[in-house]
Amino acid sequence: MSTPLRIWHPFTNAALDPAPVHVVRAEGVFLHTADGRKIIDAVSSWWVNLHGHANPRISAAIAEQARTLEHVILAGFTHDAAEELATRLSKWVLGELTHLFFSDDGSTAVEIALKLAVQHFQNVSRPEKREIVALAHGYHGDTAGAMSVSDDSPFTEPFRSMRYPVHRVHSAYCHRCPIGLKRETCHIECAQQIEALLAERDERIAAVIVEPLLQAAGGMIVHPVEFLQKIRALCTHYDVLLIADEVLTGFGRTGKMFACDLANVVPDLMCLSKGITGGFLPMCVTLSSDRVESAFRSKDRRHTFYHGHSYTGNPLACAAANASLKIFDDEPVFDRIASIARIHAERLSYLREMHQVGDTRHIGSIGALELCAEDPGYLSALRPKLYDFFLRRGVLLRPLGNVVYVLPPYVIEPEELQRVYDVIVEAIETLL
Ligand SMILES: Cc1ncc(COP(=O)(O)O)c(C=O)c1O
Repeated sequence: MSTPLRIWHPFTNAALDPAPVHVVRAEGVFLHTADGRKIIDAVSSWWVNLHGHANPRISAAIAEQARTLEHVILAGFTHDAAEELATRLSKWVLGELTHLFFSDDGSTAVEIALKLAVQHFQNVSRPEKREIVALAHGYHGDTAGAMSVSDDSPFTEPFRSMRYPVHRVHSAYCHRCPIGLKRETCHIECAQQIEALLAERDERIAAVIVEPLLQAAGGMIVHPVEFLQKIRALCTHYDVLLIADEVLTGFGRTGKMFACDLANVVPDLMCLSKGITGGFLPMCVTLSSDRVESAFRSKDRRHTFYHGHSYTGNPLACAAANASLKIFDDEPVFDRIASIARIHAERLSYLREMHQVGDTRHIGSIGALELCAEDPGYLSALRPKLYDFFLRRGVLLRPLGNVVYVLPPYVIEPEELQRVYDVIVEAIETLL
C-alpha cells in the first residue's frame, strides 16, 4: 500500500507545534478524542460554532437537504434553500441592506465587498474612487486582497509583494491608545486621522473597511461604539462606502445579532460567515445596499459583477444556515449569550486585579485578557506554553500571543465556563 499523504495543518509548524489531537466525535461544547479525552471547545472551533457541536436540528436539516438537492450552479439558477435564507436573513438585517451575494468563507466575503466597492464607482463613472482605508490591528482573512486590508503581522510578512497598498489609520485600541489618551477623558480623538484622510482624498477613496466594535485576530480589541458611529458619519459625509466585516461578530457574538446593531449603524456592505451555518459548513454572504447593487443592474454588460465560486449558494450550507436561524427563532439564544456575558464580566473583573494581567475586555459572548509579557504580540513565547497548559487540563483555548480569549458555543453551561476561567487563573499563577 502507498504511504498516506500527510495533512499539512493550518497555522501549524510541524517542526515546533505538538502533533494534532485526533477528534473522533463532538457533542455540545465537548470534543471527544481518539485517546478517550473530553475537551471543552472554548473557541467554538475557530469561532464558527454557535449552538453546539453535532446540533441535531442542524444535522437533520443537512441530511434532509442532501436527499433533495445537494448542489446546483447559482448563475442563472436558484433553489428553495437559498431563497429561504434570503427571507430569513431579511428579518435580522436592517432594511437598507437589500441584496445578498453568496460565496464560501470570511476571506471571500471580504474580497467580494472590496471588489463591489471598487466596481460600484467604476460603474457610476467615477473610476478614480478606488482606494481603500483600513484600520491598524485589523484582520480580514488570508487571501491576497483580504491580507492587503489586514494590518502587518507575522501572517502577512512573507507576502509584502502580493499586498496592494491601502491607507492604514488608527483603531480605537484604548489600552494602548495610539495617541496616548485615556478613554475616561477622551473624545475619540483617534478618529481625527481618518477624518483628515477622507477630507483630503475623498475623490479617490472608495471604501473604509472595519471589523465593527471588535477587532478579533488583532487581539480581541473592543472599540467604543462612538468610534464606529463616527466612521459611519464620515463615510456618509465624504461619499465613501462603509464595509462592515462581521465575519466573526455576526450572529449574536457581541450580544446583538450584528455588532452594527449595537451602534445603530448601517454599513453599505456587510460580510457574514463563520457562524452563519451554525459552524457546520463553509459559507458566507456579502450584503449590499440597493445603492451599491443598482450600479450593477445596467444595460451595459460590462457593469456585471463577474465573480462566482463553484459552490456559491450551496444548498446544504443554506439548509444549515436556515436551521441555525430557526434556532434563533425558537430557542432562548440571546438569554444564553447574556448568561455567558455575565460570567465574562464577573470573572474578568477579578482577573483584572492580578498583577500579571494588563487589561481585560469583553463584549457579548467574548471575553479576553491581555497578559503582561516582555514580548507582546502573536509570536509571544507565552502562547505555546499557555496553549499546551490549557489543553492538558482539557480546555481548547488558542491565545493570540499574550491575549487569552474565551469564545464558547452559546450552549456552554455556566459551570463549564467557570471551569474554563479556573484553568486560565491556574495557568497565570503557574506560568507567569
Ligand atoms: C473579521 C474576520 N474577517 C475575515 C476572516 C476570514 O475568514 P475565513 O477564515 O473564513 O476566511 C476572519 C477569520 O478569522 C475574521 O475574523
